Amino acid sequence: MSVVYSLKNVVKSRLVDKAGFRLQVPSIEIKQQENIALVGHSGCGKSTLLDILALALHPDSQDEFLLTPKDQESQDVGFLWKKKKQNKLSKIRKQHIGYVLQQGGLLPYLTVRENIELPRRLMNLPQDDSTRSLARVMGIHRQLDKLPGLLSAGERQRVAFTRALSHRPSILLADEPTASLDPITARKIMAVVMELVKGLNITMITASHDWAHVYKMDLRVLKQEAEVVEDGHVYQSTFTD
Ligand SMILES: Nc1ncnc2c1ncn2[C@@H]1O[C@H](COP(=O)(O)OP(=O)(O)O)[C@@H](O)[C@H]1O
Ligand SMILES: [Mg+2]
Repeated sequence: MSVVYSLKNVVKSRLVDKAGFRLQVPSIEIKQQENIALVGHSGCGKSTLLDILALALHPDSQDEFLLTPKDQESQDVGFLWKKKKQNKLSKIRKQHIGYVLQQGGLLPYLTVRENIELPRRLMNLPQDDSTRSLARVMGIHRQLDKLPGLLSAGERQRVAFTRALSHRPSILLADEPTASLDPITARKIMAVVMELVKGLNITMITASHDWAHVYKMDLRVLKQEAEVVEDGHVYQSTFTD
């Protein structure tokens, strides 16, 4: 299987209330169709790493950051960051990556259908039957004309997944997508998503602080080590293969 993400010595530092945080990635290789979990305590840098993988956050430095979406040429993202090619970076992100946030991030004043179609609009893709068929697979086809506020938390996360997949990206990133749901609802939703991404040959990376949940789903877990922890604050965290 071809390699989708290849990272070497990626570093990102943040300053939080005078307490620093440093994320280190000595080496990560993620292959097409892999289903990966980023597991670790709150504050260990899962969201930071996901934002970097989503090309939404620039690292301070990297020796290598290559992204090769399915059936596409390899993109030297490290070079694009160095040269500040924001348009190109945002184009790659919009086309190839779907991102689900913990709280879904749905726009409350748009209907479910309009929320789902947003990524397609951004890419000038036709508004065709695909929204309905994807919504059916995700079990939310009866909710398409409602506003998100009228849905249950579980239904909203189903919509968030549907939206993240509506433009048919080959990479799906999800940041604690079921953390606010009860375990049974969470398991049901993840089962549907897992089956869908398998069928669509999607590479998926999910952040979670819930080990039991992740191990049950049989994902490849990236190693995470919080090296310096004081009073619960993580100063330095390393993720690697
Ligand atoms: N926008 C930001 N600006 C500065 N520091 C941040 C920002 N977002 C997160 N951090 C800090 O970076 C560290 C890692 O946070 P995060 O990636 O959100 O961890 P996790 O998702 O594993 O809980 C924390 O110390 C957090 O306070
Ligand atoms: Mg987080």
